[in-house]
Amino acid sequence: MFNDIAPKYDFLNHFLSLGIDKIWRRKVVRSIIKHNPQEVLDIATGTADLAILLAKKHSTSNITGVDLSENMLAVGRRKIDEFNLANRITLKQGDSLSLPFESNTFDVAMVAFGVRNYEDPVKGMAETLRVLKPSGKFYVLEFSMPRKFPMAQLYKFYFWAILPLIGRMISGHKQAYTYLPESVSAFPDGINFIQLMKNAGFSDCKFKKLSFGIASIYQGEKHL
Ligand SMILES: C[S@@+](CC[C@H](N)C(=O)[O-])C[C@H]1O[C@@H](n2cnc3c(N)ncnc32)[C@H](O)[C@@H]1O
Repeated sequence: MFNDIAPKYDFLNHFLSLGIDKIWRRKVVRSIIKHNPQEVLDIATGTADLAILLAKKHSTSNITGVDLSENMLAVGRRKIDEFNLANRITLKQGDSLSLPFESNTFDVAMVAFGVRNYEDPVKGMAETLRVLKPSGKFYVLEFSMPRKFPMAQLYKFYFWAILPLIGRMISGHKQAYTYLPESVSAFPDGINFIQLMKNAGFSDCKFKKLSFGIASIYQGEKHL
């Protein structure tokens, strides 16, 4: 599915979120920079938006992006070249459930809108834990469901009625933008997602809701 929508992915992402996804990514990057990481892994990097933003904001990070979809990575590679960041960002095809890296390699691992798509989120996050150095930090940016009136009702209407329609018209893909609300509704958020992180072995897990709960940033740490 991501191979099919890769050429339109960036445009639709920013258009359908009214640009709010950029604000969310900036928040993740601001938190990550505080740790002054040297080696960073961007899992399910897609078209490398988060990796590029971090590289621009923190000049001493080397970033490796990994994703299953070669077409998404191809779009990412073009952007990396445009921004002259090829010496700092490396993209690699790979599966988050079996990462092609040695244990204890990265200071920080991050994943934006990716964990929800894993076949087995706990297995994927346990694999993230393996490749993090001791005391390494893990950040997840993921959609969540707002629960308070009127945002919950407005969001449901937009997410189920408007977004799939526009997504289908622009991407030409029938399922991709009905998959989005379906997968978000079915996926655990808040303390339920924190429990998955703990099951994967992460410590000091916490989360912060963004934009009335439409998205959340989750954070965990590798303790030995
Ligand atoms: C919604 S996109 C997010 C891309 C990017 N992180 C962003 O914020 O725009 C989800 C990405 O997860 C990737 N993906 C899904 N399952 C994966 C897996 N098991 N391993 C690696 N990448 C995966 C897809 O190929 C897709 O590029």
